[in-house]
Amino acid sequence: MNIGILGTGVVGQTIGSRLIELGHNVKMGSRTSNNANARAWMRAAKENASHGTFDEAAEFGEILFNCTSGKGSLSAIESIKTANLNNKVLVDVANPLDFSHGMPPVLTVCNYDSLGEQIQHERPLLRVVKALNTMNVDVMVHPERVSGQHDVFICGNDNDAKSLVTMMLIEWFGWETVIDLGDISNSRGMEMAVPLWISLNKKLGTNIFNFKVVK
Ligand SMILES: NC(=O)c1ccc[n+]([C@@H]2O[C@H](COP(=O)([O-])OP(=O)(O)OC[C@H]3O[C@@H](n4cnc5c(N)ncnc54)[C@H](OP(=O)(O)O)[C@@H]3O)[C@@H](O)[C@H]2O)c1
Repeated sequence: MNIGILGTGVVGQTIGSRLIELGHNVKMGSRTSNNANARAWMRAAKENASHGTFDEAAEFGEILFNCTSGKGSLSAIESIKTANLNNKVLVDVANPLDFSHGMPPVLTVCNYDSLGEQIQHERPLLRVVKALNTMNVDVMVHPERVSGQHDVFICGNDNDAKSLVTMMLIEWFGWETVIDLGDISNSRGMEMAVPLWISLNKKLGTNIFNFKVVK
């Protein structure tokens, strides 16, 4: 498939590289058409990789991943032409974190709203599925790096979009348990889990762990 990655940081690069390994074509988007990270990523990927603006990546992708910083996600989405987003599935990996007061970061939106909902509200015909934001990027695309069974959460308003993302998580990335929390308002809980992840990271001294729900 042709996949658009919005974001040139470690998350965009890791997901983009994994998708290329799996045989997909990936265009990485940025605020500018000559971003240095995107150029370096493209050179390392060698084949099936390209880069451009956020709008060009969205136009290219049949499926999109939002891997922009939480504070930049809405302006990244706003910079994309409506026609390049309408009816597309966007996997929203971003977290609304503010690091400006040091560690730990604080959430810029919570309780009554979330970044996932704000993106959905901004572009009503985009099919936003929040996923993968509650773990380290290496675990996102290599869940087997955490031993035993563990969980990835998703939420969104469009059931077909969630079915597609569930298929991608299981068949492409190797997830076994995908927990659908319901509509996009469940982004609140998924994003508010991130401060807990940060505390666990400090306590455990590693990024390679994940949540597992036991009934
Ligand atoms: N690191 C992890 O393991 C992890 C795990 C879960 C979730 N996440 C989330 O994944 C997302 C990506 O993280 P990351 O560390 O790879 O990258 P990042 O440094 O958080 O974000 C980089 C991207 O954000 C864009 N950006 C920054 N400010 C912007 C603005 N004002 N307007 C538009 N775009 C802006 C940058 O655009 P340019 O390319 O133009 O510079 C770049 O593409 C974040 O939301 C993060 O919270 C990360």
